[in-house]
Amino acid sequence: MSKSFDVLVIGGGPGGYVAAIRAAQLGFSVACCESNPYADPKGEPRLGGTCLNVGCIPSKALLHTSHLFEEAGHAFAEQGIEVGKPQINVARMLARKADIVTRLTTGIKGLFKKNKVTFLPGHGAFAGQSAAGWKIRVGAEEIEAKEVIVATGSKARHLPGIPVDNRIICDNVGALAFDAVPGKLVIIGAGVIGLEMGSVWRRLGAEVSILEAGGSFLSAADIDVAREAQRIFTKQGLRIQLGVQLGAVKAGKKGVAIACTDKDGKTNQIEADRLIVSVGRVPNTDGLNADAVGLKTDARGMIEVDGHCRTNLPGVWAIGDVVRGPMLAHKAMEEGVMVAEILAGQAGHCNLELIPSVLYTQPEIAWIGMTEQQLKAEGLAYKTGKIPFLANGRALGMGATEGFVKMLADANTDRILGVHIIGAGASDLIGEAVAALEFSAAAEDLARICHAHPTLSEALHEAAMACDKRALHS
Ligand code: FAD
Ligand code: NAI
Repeated sequence: MSKSFDVLVIGGGPGGYVAAIRAAQLGFSVACCESNPYADPKGEPRLGGTCLNVGCIPSKALLHTSHLFEEAGHAFAEQGIEVGKPQINVARMLARKADIVTRLTTGIKGLFKKNKVTFLPGHGAFAGQSAAGWKIRVGAEEIEAKEVIVATGSKARHLPGIPVDNRIICDNVGALAFDAVPGKLVIIGAGVIGLEMGSVWRRLGAEVSILEAGGSFLSAADIDVAREAQRIFTKQGLRIQLGVQLGAVKAGKKGVAIACTDKDGKTNQIEADRLIVSVGRVPNTDGLNADAVGLKTDARGMIEVDGHCRTNLPGVWAIGDVVRGPMLAHKAMEEGVMVAEILAGQAGHCNLELIPSVLYTQPEIAWIGMTEQQLKAEGLAYKTGKIPFLANGRALGMGATEGFVKMLADANTDRILGVHIIGAGASDLIGEAVAALEFSAAAEDLARICHAHPTLSEALHEAAMACDKRALHS
C-alpha cells in the first residue's frame, strides 16, 4: 500500500520547504521530497535547495567575511584602529560558512518536524495518475498525492566547450568553495553572481577580470545606478569588459587560458588560475518524467504556469526558479505560500511586479518598481527625487558615503513608480520602498512619515521630499 498525502512537494528549496510548511499549517497532510547531493550529518539530503546550500546564504557569508577583511585592511586605519596587515585564513572562512549552512539546513528539518511535514529523501518523478490524484515515484517508493507542487529549482547554465569541473572552471558551487585565494580569477558574465563572487575574491586579494557579452552594464538596473555601480566597482579593482566574445577555453591542471575578442575586435588570450562561469541558470525539469504525464514546459524548459502557479495539469502546481519570473528565493517563497493558501480556499497572491532585486556588493544595490529607462520607453510623465548618501549624517559616520537613493514618482498623481538605491544598507532600506509601492503610496506619503535620526532611511525620506523639490538636507 503506497503512502498517501494531500500535498506532495517535489524539491525542498525555499519555494518547496515554505510551501510544505504553509500547507501543513493549513491542515493538509504534507510530504516533501529532496534529492540533492549535499548530505547532512545524518547522511540525508539537506533541505534549503540552492539558496541555503550553494546560493544566497553561503555567498552572503563570504561577502560578509571579505567585507570585514577589506575594512580591516583599508578603512580601519582612517578611524584610528591600528591592526596591521590582515591575513585571511580561507579554511576558517569556509568552515564558518559551512557551519552557517548546516545550522540553517538542519533547522528546516526541525521546522518540518514541528509542522508535521513528512520528509522523503529521494528523487521525485511523475509515475502517472491515480484515483486520489497523482502517483509520484520517490526513490524506490510510490507516493500518492491529491495535489503536487513542483519546486525543483534551477542549476547553473554551462557553456559549450567550457567544461565545469568545480576546481579550475567553476559554477556557483565551486566559486563558493575555493580552497585558496586565486592569484588571477576570470569570471564569465557580469551578472549578480559575477559581481558578488568577483567582489568576494577581489577583496581577499585576487586580480579579477569579468568578461561580459552584453554591451551595457547591469542593464536590468536603473541607468544611473548601473553607471554609478560600474564606476565604483572599476575603482575598487574589478576589471569589467563589456561586449566580449569568448573564444576557446583551455583548462590545464593548474590554470586556464581564455581566448576572447573585445568590443573593438581585438583578440586576447587571458591566463587565469580559476574561471567562474556565471551566465544565468536553467530550470530543473529533467528527470521529472514531465513529458510522460503531459506537463507543459516552454522553450527554455520552464514549467508553464498561470499567475497562480497552476500548470496545465489538474492538481499540479509549479513554483520558484522552475517557472517564469525572477530567479530569487523570496519570489519562490511567496509563490509557495500563495499555492498553499489557494489549496486551502484562501485568496493566495504573489505580485510579480513588486519583487525586490538586491545585489549584496559594497555598496549594495537594490531596487523595486520601474527604472527611468522603462518610464521613458513607456512615455510616462515622471518626476525624480535623488539624494546622495554624502548628505546623510549616518552614512558619513559609517564612512559609507558612496551612492544615492533615487525615487521616481508619477508627475501627475505623485504615486511612487520606482525606488533605486545604491549605497550601504540598500538591501534593508528597500523594504520600506516595497511596502510603499504595495500600498500605492505617493511620494508625499513617505515624505510625511517620521524617520528616525540619524539613519540611512532618512535618505529615502529626503528622496521622497526631493520629488516635490523640497529636500531639506541636499
Ligand atoms: P532551489 O533552491 O533550486 O531548490 C530546488 C530543490 O529541488 C533543490 O534542492 C533540488 O535538489 C531539488 N530537486 C530538483 N529536482 C528534484 C527532484 N526531481 N526530486 C527531488 N528533489 C529535486 N536569491 C535571492 O533571493 N537572494 C540571494 O542573495 C541569492 N543569492 C544567490 C547566490 C547564488 C550563488 C545562487 C546560485 C543563487 C542565488 N539566489 C539568490 C537565487 C536563489 O538561490 C534561488 O532563486 C532559489 O534557491 C530558488 O528556490 P527554489 O525553491 O525554486 O529552487
Ligand atoms: P545573471 O542573469 O544575473 O547574469 C548573467 C550574465 O552573463 C548576464 O549579464 C549575461 O549578459 C552574461 N552572459 C550570458 N552569456 C554570456 C556569454 N556567453 N559570455 C559572457 N557573458 C555572458 O545570472 P547569474 O549571475 O548567473 O545569476 C543567476 C541567477 O541567480 C540570477 O537570475 C539571479 O536572480 C540569482 N542570483 C541572485 C542573487 C541576489 O539576489 N543577490 C545573487 C546571485 C544570484
